[in-house]
Amino acid sequence: RSIVILISGRGSNMEAIVRAAQAEQWSARISAVISNRADASGLEFAAAHGIPTEVIPNRDYATRHQFDTALRAKIDAYAPDLVVLAGFMRILTTPFVDHYRGRMLNIHPSLLPSFPGLATHHQALAVGVKLHGATVHFVTPDLDHGPIVAQACVPVLEGDSEEALAERVLEQEHVIYPRAVRWFVEGRLLLEGARVRLTPAAV
Ligand code: GRF
Repeated sequence: RSIVILISGRGSNMEAIVRAAQAEQWSARISAVISNRADASGLEFAAAHGIPTEVIPNRDYATRHQFDTALRAKIDAYAPDLVVLAGFMRILTTPFVDHYRGRMLNIHPSLLPSFPGLATHHQALAVGVKLHGATVHFVTPDLDHGPIVAQACVPVLEGDSEEALAERVLEQEHVIYPRAVRWFVEGRLLLEGARVRLTPAAV
């Protein structure tokens, strides 16, 4: 099995997945890490781990559709079973998303359906929720609203800054995202219509 990971920046979730795949000896390989930004620092980690990297600068394309078409061609050259969005900061067009239906995951730094979109930690502090967290979901054309695969929550503490809260959430992202990807690789995670089906592990 083959996984392609898309990033735009630091790539710490990608790193957590790569490390888990190695440590747990998954029966899947990370075939490529693709970024829309040449300066994404995560590309260095991937290259250092022998993973092919690709950059497709979105600025080189006049429209979202043209960018998505180029991106899709790059991804499909690796024939992945799963596409993993890990801090990939582009809104994707519906044809692109539909092409990967049931085989594209994203992680979002909030307990969806609360706080879709950007600045989730700011939103959480502004509203004053006492619990916050992260969500892994299948990607559908409805931004940040795809069927939920896994969630982790963290407390919001008195006097929290956005940075402190983000760090607490990120630590949980690094736990749930590799786990969810592993479920998929094991063939246990399926999207059936609009519902997620997770088969228990064999004993
Ligand atoms: C993470 O918080 C992720 O949930 C969000 O963007 C951040 C990416 O971090 N979508 P990294 O690039 O994985 O370190």
